[in-house]
Amino acid sequence: METSSFVVRPTAGLRGRVTVPGDKSISHRAVLFGALAEGSTHVRGWLAAGDTEASLRCVQTLGIQVERHSTSELTIYGGKLQPPESALDFVNAGTGIRLAAGIMVGQPFPSVLDGSYQLRRRPMKRIITPLRLMGAQIEGDKDCAPLRIEPTQLQGIRYELPMASAQVKSAVLLAGLFAQGETVVVEPGPARDHTERMLSAMGADLTVHDGEVHLQPGARLTAVDFSVPGDFSSAAFLIVAACIVPDSDITLAGINLNPTRTGLLDVLLEMGADITITETGLEAGEPAGEIRVRHSTLHGVDVGGDMVVRMIDEFPVLMVAALQAEGRTTVRDAHELRVKETDRLAVMTAELRKMGAEMTETEDGFIIDGPQTLMGAQVDGHDDHRVAMSLTVAGLLADEQTVVDDAKCAGDSFPGFAETLVQLGSELAVMS
Ligand code: S3P
Repeated sequence: METSSFVVRPTAGLRGRVTVPGDKSISHRAVLFGALAEGSTHVRGWLAAGDTEASLRCVQTLGIQVERHSTSELTIYGGKLQPPESALDFVNAGTGIRLAAGIMVGQPFPSVLDGSYQLRRRPMKRIITPLRLMGAQIEGDKDCAPLRIEPTQLQGIRYELPMASAQVKSAVLLAGLFAQGETVVVEPGPARDHTERMLSAMGADLTVHDGEVHLQPGARLTAVDFSVPGDFSSAAFLIVAACIVPDSDITLAGINLNPTRTGLLDVLLEMGADITITETGLEAGEPAGEIRVRHSTLHGVDVGGDMVVRMIDEFPVLMVAALQAEGRTTVRDAHELRVKETDRLAVMTAELRKMGAEMTETEDGFIIDGPQTLMGAQVDGHDDHRVAMSLTVAGLLADEQTVVDDAKCAGDSFPGFAETLVQLGSELAVMS
């Protein structure tokens, strides 16, 4: 749906069984890693969304043939990357540009990696620093995109990540594929491990133990087929919506249940949510299954430490849950939220206040005392998909109509978000 505002009205009860589009993190990796592998990588359940389509166009710019069987099914004929004739444009995709930087520093030709005005504001020093330690010639514009890369021989390093980030971990490991000697990444917390799972499945010499990932270069990556499970981070909006909207009972099928991603489930269960999880098998080497959620009486919770990275993308929607929970919710150690598509602590606080929310933004988190009644208001998605979708969920419970402007960005990760909410029974219209 090519539109810009969601108009959402108070909703009675969400009911039904739905799926959500494929996992964004795995879909980026499927095209980037498939481009490097010998042979044809067949991907089912691929997420065709703003961010991942950008990564797909970039691998095509690098000379990789891609056959599109349908929106969500494609075959990547990988092998040798070719020098690009233009800059690689990752649009809004932080995962795309950071992972691709790890690959491009290992190529025998120069490249430029760029993106939208929003991506150009996001910090790239976090990848420039370790890649330079490996010998890479990579320059940013004040440590931001565009990134200019010249060919060099890389050396393996042992790198202690200064922050728990799967994107930085992945960039270093991908560069390690092209380096001389072992690369070791030491993690301060359990960041999502899709890169490790997928590269291992493709034949990379990679081991993980005690918070360290060890990668030996030299193994040829071979193509494997991926069947991408539904994105837990997309399911999260529906999970919170069903928890807080009275009379709800929904089932989400085929969702990725990788424990490095499902921190929100643990937190909601601690808050008293009525959630049943049934694991049904493995998809793309990841545990997947069904999540049933019923309306719940929630209470406040404290979140900090290792839990933060396991639910880093879910804090905007956790704020909405906390506003409906009895008592105080406190979040700490979540500074990384300030360098996402927007400063999500500041932007969500400002927008929820327009709906009458009372909350305190702290340097690394927030404090919310609930439950609170939200007022219908005109709010702004700030071209940040997770902000726009979280505000829409808040709108389901407000006393009057809520208009979420700049909501088209929901399609960066969850095409069909509005339609799925309508399918579950919410009153939501899309306005251009
Ligand atoms: C991602 C890692 C996370 C997450 C992002 C996707 C990935 O970012 O917020 O949405 O696919 O590796 P950081 O690694 O910067 O925390």
